[in-house]
Amino acid sequence: MKFRLKRRRLGQLMFVSTVAATTSNFVEKSVAQTPVKKTTPMLKSSIPETMKVTLKVNGTAHSLQIEPRVTLLDALREYIGLTGSKKGCDHGQCGACTVLVDGRRVNSCLTFAIMHTDAAITTIEGLEQGNNLHPMQAAFVARDAFQCGYCTPGQICSAVGLVKEGHAKSDADIRELMSGNICRCGAYPNIVAAVRDVLEGKKDAAV
Ligand code: FES
Ligand code: FES
Repeated sequence: MKFRLKRRRLGQLMFVSTVAATTSNFVEKSVAQTPVKKTTPMLKSSIPETMKVTLKVNGTAHSLQIEPRVTLLDALREYIGLTGSKKGCDHGQCGACTVLVDGRRVNSCLTFAIMHTDAAITTIEGLEQGNNLHPMQAAFVARDAFQCGYCTPGQICSAVGLVKEGHAKSDADIRELMSGNICRCGAYPNIVAAVRDVLEGKKDAAV
């Protein structure tokens, strides 16, 4: 008798839990299938479409009205008209866009113009000293360190930054520290020779 009661009780419990599980499934499905109610329209972004930005490039201040997403490379090339810095890959892999920001070499395709309003930006156009080529430019010419020249502005800016950093002591160091600048023409031996010339002979190569 006791056993039969227990079985009945067990059956009741199983029935109740089955009903509860089914009900909860139904509720979940109902919630999932309920169409999302249209609420108020999305708030308009607080990011301005364009901003006024002043960039100091090669010693000259340039006032631009640009979108916040404009890269430093595009600001230089498309808005200021300094097309010496080249766009190779546009995502940090070739170094053709290298410029100097406060003396440090930077891939200008990877940074936004609005981040550099307080900086001194130097491009290949700003390296010459008076009517004379920068020592690094002169070394590239003397060593014939280019073929098509597309990578050359980035190579030279990068090499000027390298000299200023002061870490290169050998050709292997030069190759390693210039490895972010790709030359599709394969002018590497002459590029290394040009940088070595400046490192050995003209310590004033850094801007
Ligand atoms: S264009 Fe900037 S790294 Fe290639
Ligand atoms: S000289 Fe042509 S890519 Fe370097």
